[in-house]
Amino acid sequence: MRKLKTAMFGTGFMGKVHTEAIRRLGNVEVTTVAASSQATADKFAAMVGIPRATADWKAVAADPEIDVVHVCTPNVLHYPMAKAALAAGKHVLCEKPLSMTSAEARELAALGEQKKLAHCVNHNLRFYPVVQQIRSMIAAGELGDVLIVTGTYFQDWLLYDTDWNWRVNSASNGAVRAMGDIGSHWMDMIQHLTGLRITALCADLATFHKTRKRPKGSVETFTGKKLQSSDYEETAIDTDDFGAVLLRLGNRACGSFSVSQMSAGCKNRFQFEIYGTKSGVAWNQERPDELWIGQRNSPNQVIVKDPSLLEARAATFADLPGGHSEGYDDTHKQMFRRFYARVADATAPVEYPTFADGARGMELLEKVLESSRKRAWVDC
Ligand SMILES: NC(=O)c1ccc[n+]([C@@H]2O[C@H](COP(=O)([O-])OP(=O)(O)OC[C@H]3O[C@@H](n4cnc5c(N)ncnc54)[C@H](O)[C@@H]3O)[C@@H](O)[C@H]2O)c1
Repeated sequence: MRKLKTAMFGTGFMGKVHTEAIRRLGNVEVTTVAASSQATADKFAAMVGIPRATADWKAVAADPEIDVVHVCTPNVLHYPMAKAALAAGKHVLCEKPLSMTSAEARELAALGEQKKLAHCVNHNLRFYPVVQQIRSMIAAGELGDVLIVTGTYFQDWLLYDTDWNWRVNSASNGAVRAMGDIGSHWMDMIQHLTGLRITALCADLATFHKTRKRPKGSVETFTGKKLQSSDYEETAIDTDDFGAVLLRLGNRACGSFSVSQMSAGCKNRFQFEIYGTKSGVAWNQERPDELWIGQRNSPNQVIVKDPSLLEARAATFADLPGGHSEGYDDTHKQMFRRFYARVADATAPVEYPTFADGARGMELLEKVLESSRKRAWVDC
């Protein structure tokens, strides 16, 4: 069978994660990489062994040799890159948040459908085996009716005013930062797991550092800790460090969550608890193989991932036996496997988050911003 040819847009944190995960599939080759400069593209191509490197992503988007484009660049570039690739007939896997506005996201979703192309937004965190076990349990009614959802997504990599990344600037990131970067994952996850739509919310966003010290050179994600004080300039900040949100979901479920990029000691502490009329579950990304099940009339349980013990559908998200951890990298492999199955065969099921999910996410982020500005509940 012919190998599919993929182009990678972006060579930072996610460009590398995507490239490695694609190579685990077997039927796809990354033939081209596009970066912000020729030197950056060349360096990445040499490091990971990609034949073609360029600074001209528009030429790659138009190249008839390319089947699929992965967009792993700052958020402001998602819309133009995904749109150009779809318009040229390429399947697109784009990082989250899908775009800068919900209008852009809806346009991308409509274009993908109109062109009959596979389109996927990278909510990879859905693809942990234990997360899918929770989804199966909720669908089977094991929790009863979902009443309460709660949780956090806390990080600490932007704690100091000397911490800088393109995300702190709304022009490259979009209007909401902690909420857009990690709150987008939290809201996508809770709707995916419960099958409930967020119907209303009340949000409070905070920017603790009104100014940050911007490095005079560029900084890729998670690499800013090594700079000296003479390397910075003071810059006003217009994006959120923290956000807290009250939620209403479906007909009667309630909840709350908060996100932060300034919580010392928390690296990627994405956690949620879901309580229904029968039982509850809890999960924490920093201990991804563990599932806590809370029960009223029998002892609580902690289950450790083991495909032989998972529900049959959830077990298809685990490739390794119990005792061998499956983590962040593996979520991409699991998602890309399903996305590329659809690329190869247009009749394959859509078992991954689409641009319609990305558009829903952008609508919710806009509601969060609206609510925080109005200091009031808004319907979603
Ligand atoms: N799904 C996840 O778990 C997850 C995790 C982290 C980041 N992300 C998302 O991935 C995207 C990228 O984030 P990152 O952390 O990898 O950022 P990064 O700063 O590490 O990398 C960004 C890359 O974009 C490239 N770039 C900039 N301008 C370009 C241009 N004109 N043409 C081609 N390339 C260009 C840069 O060279 C750089 O390599 C963001 O949208 C972010 O929200 C998702």
